[in-house]
Amino acid sequence: MSEKILIALPKGRLFEQTLALLARAGIHADETHKGSRRLTFTDDEGRFEFVCLKPVDIPVYVESGSIDAGVVGSDILRELESDVYEPLDLQIGKCRLSVAAPEGMTVSYDDALRVATKYPRTAERYFRSRNAHVHIVRLDGSVEIAPLLGLADVIVDLVETGRTLRENGMRIVEDVASVSAKMIINRTAMKMKAGPVSQLISQLDTVIYANT
Ligand code: PRP
Repeated sequence: MSEKILIALPKGRLFEQTLALLARAGIHADETHKGSRRLTFTDDEGRFEFVCLKPVDIPVYVESGSIDAGVVGSDILRELESDVYEPLDLQIGKCRLSVAAPEGMTVSYDDALRVATKYPRTAERYFRSRNAHVHIVRLDGSVEIAPLLGLADVIVDLVETGRTLRENGMRIVEDVASVSAKMIINRTAMKMKAGPVSQLISQLDTVIYANT
C-alpha cells in the first residue's frame, strides 16, 4: 500500500473552504488544478493525492477503501450511515438541517404530512422518532419549491443563512440536526497508514482548535 494518502475533496460549497483549511495546516495544493477539469491533483510536497468528487459519493469511496480519507458534511454521513472512522470535526460548512413549511401554514404532526427532501432516511427516522406518519418525496435539489408547487406539505433541508427559505415564502418549523464538515478515514487505512494519517489529523487539529 502506497504511503501517499488519497483524499476526496467535495466539489461545490465546501471545496474552497477545505483547500483554505488545508493551507492553514501547511498542506498546499498544487495550483495547476485551478481552472482545469482534471479531477485529481497533488500537494506541493507529494504527500497527498486529492480527488474531486460529488459530496454524496465521498463516503462510498472511503468506506470501500478506494480512497483513504475524505471531507464531507455530517448531513451526508447521517443519511448514508457509512462505516468510516470520523476523527475530526473540521468546523467549516456549519449549517442546520431543518423542517420548514410555507409561511402561514400550521404544521401538525398528527396529520399525514408529505415531506420533500434530499435526505429520505434522515427525515424518515426523525419523523418516526416524533411518532409522525409521513410520506417522503425524495428530490435532488431546489427542495424549497416543492410545497409551493403542491408536491409536498413541508421540507427537510439545509439552512445556512435562511435566505433561500425567506425568498420562497417559507419558515423553519424546527431543527433536525446541526451540520458541519467532517474528516473521514477508511478503517483499514487508519491502521495501514497510521503514521501519515495521524500526522494529517494532528496538523488539522492544531489549526482548527488553535484558539480554544
Ligand atoms: C442548499 C440547501 C438550501 C440552501 C440553503 O442548496 O439545500 O437550498 O443551500 O442556504 P441558505 O439558507 O443560505 O439560503 P444548494 O445551493 O446547495 O442547492 P440545491 O438546492 O440544488 O441543493
